[in-house]
Amino acid sequence: MADALKVGIAGLGTVGASLVRIIQNRANELATTCGRAIEITAVTARDRSRDRGIDISGITWFDTPERLAAEADIDVFVELIGGASGAAADSVKAALTRGLHVVTANKALLAASGVELARIAEEKSVLLNFEAAVAGGIPVIKALRESLTGNTVSRVYGIMNGTCNYILTRMEKEGLSFADCLKEAQRLGYAEADPAFDIEGNDTAHKLAILTTLAFGTQIAADEIYLEGITNISIEDIHAAADLGYRIKLLGVAQLTDSGIEQRVHPTMVPHDSVIAQVDGVTNAVAIESDILGELLMVGPGAGGDATASAVLGDIADIAKSSPGAQRVPVLGTPAASLAPYKRARMQSHEGGYFIRLTVADRTGVFASIAACMAENGISLESIMQRPKPDAATDTPKTIILVTHATTEDSVRKAVDAIKAENYLVGEPQVIRIERPKAF
Ligand code: NAP
Ligand code: HSE
Repeated sequence: MADALKVGIAGLGTVGASLVRIIQNRANELATTCGRAIEITAVTARDRSRDRGIDISGITWFDTPERLAAEADIDVFVELIGGASGAAADSVKAALTRGLHVVTANKALLAASGVELARIAEEKSVLLNFEAAVAGGIPVIKALRESLTGNTVSRVYGIMNGTCNYILTRMEKEGLSFADCLKEAQRLGYAEADPAFDIEGNDTAHKLAILTTLAFGTQIAADEIYLEGITNISIEDIHAAADLGYRIKLLGVAQLTDSGIEQRVHPTMVPHDSVIAQVDGVTNAVAIESDILGELLMVGPGAGGDATASAVLGDIADIAKSSPGAQRVPVLGTPAASLAPYKRARMQSHEGGYFIRLTVADRTGVFASIAACMAENGISLESIMQRPKPDAATDTPKTIILVTHATTEDSVRKAVDAIKAENYLVGEPQVIRIERPKAF
């Protein structure tokens, strides 16, 4: 049997501790599958004295990730710290520069510096694997980077944040508050160290930026993403969506348009009978539309220690099985030097249906005024309804819900501005885009 693959792990939190446990518990099976043992020889985290429920007694401890990357006797550096800068970024760069293979689950880092890191990995002819960075345990990176080679992708979209999907599901199904659901997601190890990254949509944006590059062969453009999180979604929206035959999901969508690539992350209403609407809890789903294969939907665990460690382990096993000096698959599917410039499509040109919830003073003529603002902007309405029913007590503000036929973002913004200019609105309008999956 070949020499053991020596692995150093930086970060022993939710994912790191799961990874150590799995590698230790499955040592024999891994050695058989990979043709060589996988041995953890070095670890680091912030607090050496913390009980992590794992046995690291025979493993060399390093005081910092940077020192581990620079000095440890390892073949692979595994980064499970997180963050776009600081210890994670510095140690990954140091490890690649030293000629070590790197495995990371860090989407924030890849979204910020993926092209630079890919360039170093390609120069050094080492692997930089990151399956766990997008959609947890779902093998979507391999699918896009390897299995769909030759296909022209037209759209990639999906539920890419387990924390948000968990929150939206429990709010809808159990009537729990947003804050309680978030606390539970944190307790279960789904949320980022700073959960604002989850609920404000940044984490989905990081993942989407990576998928966009793999799908379209363009530079990573995380700063070019239209971004809305789920913090403004109320239980009222969730119930209204259900009444209309929809469910609300935080989707990341990247699609090729005539004017460039549209990248957007926002709460989205999806038809209740679509497969993606049935994806609940921490589960993620990624759909890929391409010309040769057609439509592919991958569904699976999107966060959590074991699910994520499963993807990290797959990446380590790929390195164990690879031969030194072998031709490498480009880190981002296309060689870093050949990635095309990213051309952004204007969000105002986005076309689709819209849900608009307005709270209005109970006054004669409001319905007519709203309908006129829509018509003046060329928007055709699929439905307009009042909640509660029109016979409820007069003089209290009323909720009016509109669903539009396909229109443009530009028209909707102009119509909403026109409504705002009237003096009957109470509070801010809520606008939620509607997405209709093709096959699913
Ligand atoms: P976590 O539980 O917060 O663990 C982070 C680990 O990094 C901890 O062990 C911490 O040390 C260590 N650490 C932080 N700063 C450090 C520093 N400056 N020097 C050395 N060690 C440092 O995070 P996680 O949930 O395991 O996530 C790790 C990575 O995986 C992140 O990039 C995350 O986005 C990604 N990810 C997570 C999931 C998930 O479901 N959790 C899924 C996919 C991807 P201490 O333990 O001593 O504090
Ligand atoms: N915080 C992330 C999520 C972890 O909830 O999806 C997985 O990337």
